[in-house]
Amino acid sequence: MNILKLLLILINVAVGVSLGVEKWEIARGYEIYKNNCSVCHLESISLKDFLRARMHVLKGEKPDIDAPPMNLVSAKIKQFYSRELEFVEFVKDYITHPSKDKGVCNKAAYSFFGTMPPIGEGMSEEEKELVAKWMYYNFEGIWLDIFLKVKQLEEALHSKK
Ligand code: HEC
Repeated sequence: MNILKLLLILINVAVGVSLGVEKWEIARGYEIYKNNCSVCHLESISLKDFLRARMHVLKGEKPDIDAPPMNLVSAKIKQFYSRELEFVEFVKDYITHPSKDKGVCNKAAYSFFGTMPPIGEGMSEEEKELVAKWMYYNFEGIWLDIFLKVKQLEEALHSKK
């Protein structure tokens, strides 16, 4: 190991983050998402569609999707588990033993969609790790930002009426 790499590792340990992610990991994670998660979870929802879904939820109606989209799930989890390591651990555990008690998503999600199946039971540790890493690195938003933007869009729509 050269000195530069050692230094990088020390810096990373000091600030409490892991060494990041390799391109192939993201690509493989995305494949795993496609194969195991995409039947229920949209990859991403636009602000406009999110607002539309939110309107349904506020009226007590089920939105026309089957599960919260991954960009929102990722943003929401980051609000509670901002570091990669804890984020990945959370996702790995959740998909293997899902329960309303430990979920961080809006509780309304459970009444509309029910609890997700323990899909991780049929996956290897590596697959779970990679799909979780993909969720962490593929999306940038954090929940509060997205939520604020949706509120602004909502207000803009109301003021037009
Ligand atoms: C059969 C449909 C279905 C499949 C397949 C599915 N999910 Fe879910 N998922 C849901 C539903 C519904 C929710 C919202 C209720 C909940 O959190 O259990 C959810 C919620 C989640 C959450 C948020 C938990 C929280 O904190 O509230 C994560 C993380 C997640 N899914 C990851 C995954 C991953 C990763 C995969 C693929 C490996 C996957 N899901 C496959 C339906 C599904």
